[in-house]
Amino acid sequence: MNITEIVESRQGENYTLHRQHVNPTLARVLQMIGYDTIYAKGEGCYLYDVHGEQYLDFLGGYGVFHLGRNHPHVRRVIHETLDLCTANMVQMDCPLLSGLLAEALVEHVPWGLDAVFFTNSGTESVEAALKFARAATGRPRTLYLDHAFHGLTLGSLSVNGNENFREGFGELLPGCESIPLNDLDRLEQELAHADVAGFIVEPLQGKGVYVPDDLFLSEAQRLCREHGTIFICDEVQTGLGRTGKWFAGQHWELEPDILLLSKSLSGGLVPVGALLTTRDIYDKVFSRLDRCVVHSSTFKENDLAMAAGLATLEILDRDGLIENSAHMGEKLLRGLEELQKRYDLVKEVRGKGLMIGIEFGEPRSIGLKMGWKMAETAQAGLFAQMVVMSLMRKHRVLTQVSGHQVNIIKLLPPLIVTEAEIEYFITALDDALAEAHRFPGGLWEMGTSLVREAVRGG
Ligand SMILES: Cc1ncc(COP(=O)(O)O)c(C=O)c1O
Repeated sequence: MNITEIVESRQGENYTLHRQHVNPTLARVLQMIGYDTIYAKGEGCYLYDVHGEQYLDFLGGYGVFHLGRNHPHVRRVIHETLDLCTANMVQMDCPLLSGLLAEALVEHVPWGLDAVFFTNSGTESVEAALKFARAATGRPRTLYLDHAFHGLTLGSLSVNGNENFREGFGELLPGCESIPLNDLDRLEQELAHADVAGFIVEPLQGKGVYVPDDLFLSEAQRLCREHGTIFICDEVQTGLGRTGKWFAGQHWELEPDILLLSKSLSGGLVPVGALLTTRDIYDKVFSRLDRCVVHSSTFKENDLAMAAGLATLEILDRDGLIENSAHMGEKLLRGLEELQKRYDLVKEVRGKGLMIGIEFGEPRSIGLKMGWKMAETAQAGLFAQMVVMSLMRKHRVLTQVSGHQVNIIKLLPPLIVTEAEIEYFITALDDALAEAHRFPGGLWEMGTSLVREAVRGG
């Protein structure tokens, strides 16, 4: 088999294959919103389609490409690891590369969390945390926040604060309770029952990019300590520099008992995840010789992921990408704030580093109000989708609506982003917003035809 030949000869059959054998519903939605480009290549901040057209990627594979796509150093290290023909996944073994990545992670995490458990994904890191907290405390309940997103396997779904994801899947884990963001009184009431194993938070919430009030997380952590509850920071999305610090918890001087990572840890090239905790908590899970693999998963310490993880940490350090995230994030936010002053439809811009949300809201002007109301009546969140579509169609910029039925766009550019890309994005959004402020017109018609097509398709 020659994979290059196969890719070249069958390129373009993507959607036909997915409609037949994978997820036809997703294929249809992508076609409807004009996201059905056939991509041939990814490099740095850009994707390239089969015709060689360039696309600026501010969606970032849902936040896995801190180093940009196909970083040459990570690719080289992966190739080199393959060529070593390592004794990978012996299983009854303590492999060198996972030991080295654990050592490197412990050195990078400022909170004295020196025990590492590897996983293959964000949701697997969350599942591990839920189990670790139960095992360490012997308690049954878990608290999470409204709007939370921690993954979509059943345990993670049980601590998901968005009803749309739960619908249709029946009973989830018992004892999981959600708390409104910033509601310390409610949190304390729940913790006071002394039956809560863990409280899981994203320091910045991925769905909607909600930033907590300044004191909320540190107070929540203090309350957890007081009531014997394990404080879990899910930094699957915010970790490794995304928010302008190595870990978002550092914005509030947190010191979680459990830290969760995944996404960009392997430079976006191999599935990987990690849970970091104290030796004390760790040892309460693997508490006896006959429980030495009581929690595990076959691929969790595979050499390719571990080597890619080592290479990724090296580049984040070497190229000062955490500082770049803070610096470029500031520029992006300032540029967006300028647009907010000029465009009635932009209600708020928020975020930290290169995790930024743009929230749209009902405009003051009568003409635009009509367009807004029509769009909202047809489908909540339609306006944000129209902006995402316009950015793609006219400017070849990838973004995403941040959640179900919300008028919020989320930006997750790679941490290698430069001023040139920031400026390109601001100019593109400026143009899309100028179009949106002309009602009736192109952007609103695009929304109307999207709804018409959706209704036709049922
Ligand atoms: C904070 C957070 N936790 C967990 C997950 C789940 O990760 P995965 O999709 O790798 O299972 C995500 C994914 O977006 C996330 O943002």
